[in-house]
Amino acid sequence: MTQAGTCCGFLCRKKKAEQTMEDRKIPVHVAIIMDGNGRWAKKRGMPRTFGHSQGAKTVEQILEDADELGIRYLTVYAFSTENWARPAAEVKALMNLLRRYMKTALVKCTKNNVRVRVIGDKSRLAPDLQEAIAALEQETASNTGIGFQIAINYGGRDEIVRAVRRACEKGLLSDPDAIDGDILDSCLDTAGIPDPDLLIRTCGEQRISNFLLWQLAYSELYFTDKAWPDFDRKELEKAIDAYNHRERRYGGLL
Ligand code: FPP
Repeated sequence: MTQAGTCCGFLCRKKKAEQTMEDRKIPVHVAIIMDGNGRWAKKRGMPRTFGHSQGAKTVEQILEDADELGIRYLTVYAFSTENWARPAAEVKALMNLLRRYMKTALVKCTKNNVRVRVIGDKSRLAPDLQEAIAALEQETASNTGIGFQIAINYGGRDEIVRAVRRACEKGLLSDPDAIDGDILDSCLDTAGIPDPDLLIRTCGEQRISNFLLWQLAYSELYFTDKAWPDFDRKELEKAIDAYNHRERRYGGLL
């Protein structure tokens, strides 16, 4: 409390989260396919790009909520290797949103101790966006709070192909008998980050859409009909509740 009876915001919300979530297992890593921006906007008679702008606001709020709930890593699918096939105006709008995010996030992520990593093939992105990403990654690299991964020009198959290429370049594949999952893990864009415990996909579709194909091997999947711009802390908590009712056996027996 800042003054008698005045909520201090972050700390009060954090305390409340701890109280409501204290007897629940919090997934270490949550990955999200943020679907439904276009449909959400269309329903309101607005252009699809309006849905993406709202979606970007949701990302910022959910990152704060995830952090407060004790999630250690959050990964969001912002732009897939297949999304280039969308109309040029929509691609441009999405790239501009990401550009803006990289710049505004610099101050916020530093203040909130967030560590940002962009996964995906950055080489196809505009040079100024690549620079903004590099600056944000560098500035936040030593932060110790939540790890925030943004997938841009990301495809799971593409990531695996690039990982194999990287492993070859490092000379890690010369002995076929020594090739194992750890080698591939260490060459993925997500190297050093634990696999997601929970994957959330919004807006009704029940598929993976080329997201984190290697890393999702044993993740729990959660689908909701809510469109991404309407996804909020309550929905995140619902997903965590569902996760708490899953039995994770990793192919073994309990
Ligand atoms: C899927 O909805 C959403 C996307 C392809 C883009 C997601 C991007 C953002 C939420 C904004 C930028 C992100 C950050 C990190 C600032 P859709 O367009 O496929 O919706 P539809 O299925 O209803 O058409």
